[in-house]
Amino acid sequence: MCGIVSYIGKKDPVPILLKGLRRLEYRGYDSSGIALLNEKTLHCIKRAGKVSDLESLIDDSPINGYCGIGHTRWATHGEPNDINSHPHLDHTKKIALVHNGIIENYDAIKEVLKSRGIPFTSDTDSEVLVQLISELYYNSNQKLSFEDAVRAALQEVVGAYGIVVLCEDEPGTMIAARMGSPLVLGVGEGEFLIGSDASPIVQYTRNVIYLDDNELVIINDDNYSISKIDSKNIVTKTLTRIDLTIEEIEKGEYPHFMLKEIHDQRHSISDTMRGRFNLNDGTTQLGGISDYFSNILLASRIYITACGTSWHAGLIGKHLIEEYARIPVHVEYASEFRYRNVIIDSNTILIAISQSGETADTLAAIRKAKELGAITLGICNVVGSTISRETDAGIFTHTGPEIGVASTKAFTAQLTILIMLALKLGRKKNVSKKRGKNLIRALRHIDQDVVSILKISHEVKEVAKHTYEADNFLYLGRGINFPIALEGALKLKEISYIHAEGYPAAEMKHGPIALIDKNMPVVCIAPQDESFSKILANIEEVKARKGIIITITDKINYSLKPLSDYILIIPNTHKHVFPITCSIILQMLAYELAVFRDCEIDQPRNLAKSVTVE
Ligand code: AGP
Ligand code: GLU
Repeated sequence: MCGIVSYIGKKDPVPILLKGLRRLEYRGYDSSGIALLNEKTLHCIKRAGKVSDLESLIDDSPINGYCGIGHTRWATHGEPNDINSHPHLDHTKKIALVHNGIIENYDAIKEVLKSRGIPFTSDTDSEVLVQLISELYYNSNQKLSFEDAVRAALQEVVGAYGIVVLCEDEPGTMIAARMGSPLVLGVGEGEFLIGSDASPIVQYTRNVIYLDDNELVIINDDNYSISKIDSKNIVTKTLTRIDLTIEEIEKGEYPHFMLKEIHDQRHSISDTMRGRFNLNDGTTQLGGISDYFSNILLASRIYITACGTSWHAGLIGKHLIEEYARIPVHVEYASEFRYRNVIIDSNTILIAISQSGETADTLAAIRKAKELGAITLGICNVVGSTISRETDAGIFTHTGPEIGVASTKAFTAQLTILIMLALKLGRKKNVSKKRGKNLIRALRHIDQDVVSILKISHEVKEVAKHTYEADNFLYLGRGINFPIALEGALKLKEISYIHAEGYPAAEMKHGPIALIDKNMPVVCIAPQDESFSKILANIEEVKARKGIIITITDKINYSLKPLSDYILIIPNTHKHVFPITCSIILQMLAYELAVFRDCEIDQPRNLAKSVTVE
């Protein structure tokens, strides 16, 4: 959670930090602040609310300096208010710190520091760290250097952190360290930036270094050095070149990132597939996992682990891999997997799915599976992310940065990868070339299908216009489309705050049917495949209880029409590609409903894009 940006170099840091915070705002947006070092003193300015509120504050009372740190917060400890915002200062007001993560033993350390008379001002866990650094720097008998005081403090804390620290008595020095929360160092010409991700850095330099856990970087006098936090051993790391473009991280003419990203699906699914097909042979090429391909083929079981939307992709992955490759697949929430007595051996493959590649629970699940001897594979969108680096191998989704908190194009790219993986495995087993070719042809047609879906946005708007005041929605789907019902419901909850549930259509009569009345919109996913007659029967059941029926289907059908209050027809496609196209129309529906309800679509309340805390 939260976004960190910091700058040291020849330019004015203020606009760089503010722009960086705007780019990072998707990671946390309940408060923000910056601290600057100028020739003599440290200045800190922060406030609850959006980065735009901070900008107005700075417009009213400008500050300057030659280096600075910035933070946009997603509160874990202490309500979002001005005082709890970061940066936090120590009681001498000479040291400033920004922190991403959670200090688990903050209470115990706080008690000790308080007993020594150190006054605290905030309710956060983070303040403990800056006070501890200060205590060790200014008051320890050992006369520690600033760098050593930071190291010593970090060794006292338990939990997760990405931090950057400045000290008035150490002008020209900036220290950052990581344990569990991502940090990227940007190495420019006579300037350095540190970010939670590369988005605030890319405008100034494309050369970056991804810090790993237990690493500390100290920047001074135009130089940087990376070492282990505990042993001080120097770590030699190579620069990575990032190929992010500014256009990719700006929303351009679109009112919201979410809408831009829904539209990006005109090309992002093909971007994900590019160079990965072999049509002649009806199969796919997935170079990233080639070293482990035979292990996957021979695996006794596969676990897929993920959170949220990525977990929904996992459920579809199970369906596909079991269908094509006939390997048993278990899908687990990473937060459950990490604490469960899972059955893993060296014939087990763990596939972790994560857009950000930084989700703390997913990362912990990977580490656990590794320890137990499994081969771990990642399906990630962010190159250089922790999950992509810690898994044994993986496949990138190549869908470009996803900024909207509600995942859209990353989800359809994950589904695309899972289809390609299932097909590749299947082709090595009993799946015929012809079957493979049919699937590939449908995938290759997807750009056109997405364009057709986007063209019916006025119909989607019409549905939204008549249903946006509902308090609840139900989404029903069967088979491979049940996870799409879950995903449709999640999208709606996240951005419109309408309560929604996804259900396997036939399960409805075992409980949720009690909720249906004339005020309940029910989104029925009804592709005209072999499950059609069954879902039709479920729609009849809803109709009999006077529910408002919104049908998503892929062909005009005369029995569906009289049953449906609204019917959205999307292009007919392969039954295993339909979940992708269907999820796009559901994203559009959630978006339009949220627009009618006047919600903050890209920054829904209480959420953050990347959940780097447990
Ligand atoms: C998606 O709309 C959500 N914001 C959320 O459920 C997300 O999918 C989840 O936090 C997992 O994130 P990841 O894919 O980056 O690991
Ligand atoms: N735990 C810290 C806080 O609540 C940092 C949260 C964050 O990562 O934004 O302030």
